[in-house]
Amino acid sequence: MKLLVINGPNLNLLGIREPAIYGSRTLAELEGMLQTYGAERGVELDFFQSNHEGALIDRIHAAMGCYDGLIINPAAYTHTSIAIPDAIRAVGLPTVEVHLSDITKREPYRWHSYTAPACLATISGQHFEGYLAAVDLLLRHVNP
Ligand code: DQA
Repeated sequence: MKLLVINGPNLNLLGIREPAIYGSRTLAELEGMLQTYGAERGVELDFFQSNHEGALIDRIHAAMGCYDGLIINPAAYTHTSIAIPDAIRAVGLPTVEVHLSDITKREPYRWHSYTAPACLATISGQHFEGYLAAVDLLLRHVNP
Protein backbone atom coordinates (compact mmCIF):
# COMPACT_ATOMS: atom_id res chain seq x y z
CA MET A 1 0.00 0.00 0.00
CA LYS A 2 1.25 3.43 -0.95
CA LEU A 3 0.04 6.73 0.51
CA LEU A 4 0.83 10.36 -0.22
CA VAL A 5 0.90 12.82 2.67
CA ILE A 6 0.22 16.41 1.60
CA ASN A 7 0.75 19.42 3.85
CA GLY A 8 -0.41 22.89 2.92
CA PRO A 9 0.71 26.45 3.63
CA ASN A 10 2.90 27.36 6.59
CA LEU A 11 3.31 23.75 7.69
CA ASN A 12 6.93 23.92 6.49
CA LEU A 13 7.40 26.15 9.56
CA LEU A 14 6.24 23.54 12.07
CA GLY A 15 8.41 23.77 15.17
CA ILE A 16 8.80 27.53 14.76
CA ARG A 17 5.25 28.52 13.96
CA GLU A 18 3.00 29.23 16.97
CA PRO A 19 4.39 26.33 19.05
CA ALA A 20 1.66 26.74 21.69
CA ILE A 21 -0.84 25.69 19.03
CA TYR A 22 1.14 23.45 16.67
CA GLY A 23 3.86 22.07 18.97
CA SER A 24 7.64 22.24 18.80
CA ARG A 25 8.25 19.29 16.47
CA THR A 26 9.20 19.98 12.85
CA LEU A 27 7.73 18.82 9.54
CA ALA A 28 10.84 16.65 9.02
CA GLU A 29 10.13 14.98 12.39
CA LEU A 30 6.51 14.40 11.39
CA GLU A 31 7.56 12.86 8.09
CA GLY A 32 10.21 10.69 9.79
CA MET A 33 7.67 9.47 12.35
CA LEU A 34 5.17 8.63 9.58
CA GLN A 35 7.83 6.85 7.53
CA THR A 36 8.68 4.60 10.49
CA TYR A 37 5.04 4.00 11.37
CA GLY A 38 4.24 3.10 7.77
CA ALA A 39 7.27 0.82 7.35
CA GLU A 40 6.15 -1.19 10.42
CA ARG A 41 2.78 -1.73 8.71
CA GLY A 42 3.90 -2.34 5.15
CA VAL A 43 2.81 1.12 4.02
CA GLU A 44 5.04 3.15 1.73
CA LEU A 45 4.68 6.90 2.21
CA ASP A 46 5.65 9.88 0.07
CA PHE A 47 5.47 13.47 1.23
CA PHE A 48 4.66 16.82 -0.33
CA GLN A 49 4.37 20.29 1.17
CA SER A 50 3.54 23.52 -0.62
CA ASN A 51 2.44 27.03 0.24
CA HIS A 52 0.64 27.33 -3.12
CA GLU A 53 -2.89 26.16 -3.83
CA GLY A 54 -2.20 25.31 -7.49
CA ALA A 55 0.87 23.25 -6.58
CA LEU A 56 -1.23 21.26 -4.07
CA ILE A 57 -3.86 20.65 -6.77
CA ASP A 58 -1.23 19.60 -9.34
CA ARG A 59 0.20 17.11 -6.81
CA ILE A 60 -3.25 15.67 -6.09
CA HIS A 61 -3.80 15.21 -9.85
CA ALA A 62 -0.37 13.56 -10.27
CA ALA A 63 -1.25 11.11 -7.46
CA MET A 64 -3.92 9.49 -9.63
CA GLY A 65 -2.97 5.91 -10.43
CA CYS A 66 0.16 6.12 -8.23
CA TYR A 67 -1.26 5.93 -4.70
CA ASP A 68 -3.90 3.99 -2.77
CA GLY A 69 -4.89 7.01 -0.73
CA LEU A 70 -4.11 10.53 0.40
CA ILE A 71 -3.63 12.17 3.76
CA ILE A 72 -4.01 15.94 3.53
CA ASN A 73 -3.70 18.85 5.89
CA PRO A 74 -4.81 21.71 3.64
CA ALA A 75 -4.00 24.17 6.46
CA ALA A 76 -5.65 27.57 5.88
CA TYR A 77 -6.95 26.41 2.47
CA THR A 78 -9.29 24.16 4.44
CA HIS A 79 -11.41 27.19 5.13
CA THR A 80 -11.18 28.91 1.73
CA SER A 81 -10.53 26.46 -1.11
CA ILE A 82 -13.18 24.85 -3.25
CA ALA A 83 -10.57 23.78 -5.83
CA ILE A 84 -8.78 21.43 -3.40
CA PRO A 85 -11.86 19.33 -2.53
CA ASP A 86 -12.80 19.40 -6.22
CA ALA A 87 -9.36 17.92 -7.04
CA ILE A 88 -9.80 15.24 -4.35
CA ARG A 89 -13.18 14.30 -5.83
CA ALA A 90 -11.76 14.41 -9.37
CA VAL A 91 -9.01 11.85 -8.69
CA GLY A 92 -11.33 9.64 -6.61
CA LEU A 93 -8.62 8.56 -4.15
CA PRO A 94 -9.72 7.79 -0.58
CA THR A 95 -8.56 10.80 1.43
CA VAL A 96 -8.33 11.62 5.11
CA GLU A 97 -8.16 15.25 6.22
CA VAL A 98 -5.95 15.96 9.22
CA HIS A 99 -5.49 19.04 11.41
CA LEU A 100 -2.93 19.31 14.16
CA SER A 101 -5.10 21.64 16.22
CA ASP A 102 -8.79 21.19 16.98
CA ILE A 103 -10.29 23.55 14.41
CA THR A 104 -13.70 23.32 16.09
CA LYS A 105 -12.31 24.93 19.26
CA ARG A 106 -10.53 27.86 17.61
CA GLU A 107 -11.67 31.05 15.84
CA PRO A 108 -15.10 30.76 14.18
CA TYR A 109 -13.54 31.25 10.71
CA ARG A 110 -11.76 27.89 11.19
CA TRP A 111 -14.90 25.94 12.08
CA HIS A 112 -15.92 25.25 8.50
CA SER A 113 -13.95 22.89 6.27
CA TYR A 114 -14.61 22.89 2.53
CA THR A 115 -12.35 19.84 2.29
CA ALA A 116 -14.20 17.61 4.75
CA PRO A 117 -17.11 16.57 2.47
CA ALA A 118 -14.59 15.25 -0.11
CA CYS A 119 -12.86 13.10 2.52
CA LEU A 120 -13.57 9.78 4.26
CA ALA A 121 -12.92 11.38 7.62
CA THR A 122 -11.48 14.43 9.34
CA ILE A 123 -9.09 14.00 12.27
CA SER A 124 -8.62 17.22 14.18
CA GLY A 125 -6.74 18.13 17.34
CA GLN A 126 -4.62 15.00 17.73
CA HIS A 127 -1.37 16.70 16.66
CA PHE A 128 1.14 14.30 15.01
CA GLU A 129 -0.85 11.30 16.23
CA GLY A 130 -3.71 12.39 13.95
CA TYR A 131 -1.58 11.59 10.91
CA LEU A 132 -0.83 8.12 12.32
CA ALA A 133 -4.55 7.57 12.90
CA ALA A 134 -5.12 8.59 9.25
CA VAL A 135 -2.68 5.86 8.10
CA ASP A 136 -4.62 3.30 10.19
CA LEU A 137 -7.93 4.52 8.81
CA LEU A 138 -6.74 4.23 5.20
CA LEU A 139 -5.22 0.79 5.90
CA ARG A 140 -8.59 -0.43 7.17
CA HIS A 141 -10.39 1.23 4.25
CA VAL A 142 -8.13 -0.22 1.53
CA ASN A 143 -7.70 -3.67 3.15
CA PRO A 144 -10.93 -4.22 5.09
C1 DQA B 1 -4.37 23.62 10.61
C2 DQA B 1 -5.56 24.47 11.09
C3 DQA B 1 -5.83 25.61 10.11
O1 DQA B 1 -6.93 26.39 10.56
C4 DQA B 1 -4.62 26.51 10.01
O2 DQA B 1 -4.84 27.52 9.06
C5 DQA B 1 -3.37 25.76 9.71
C6 DQA B 1 -3.14 24.47 10.34
C7 DQA B 1 -3.98 22.56 11.64
O3 DQA B 1 -3.25 21.65 11.28
O4 DQA B 1 -4.37 22.66 12.82
O5 DQA B 1 -2.49 26.26 9.02
O6 DQA B 1 -4.74 22.95 9.42
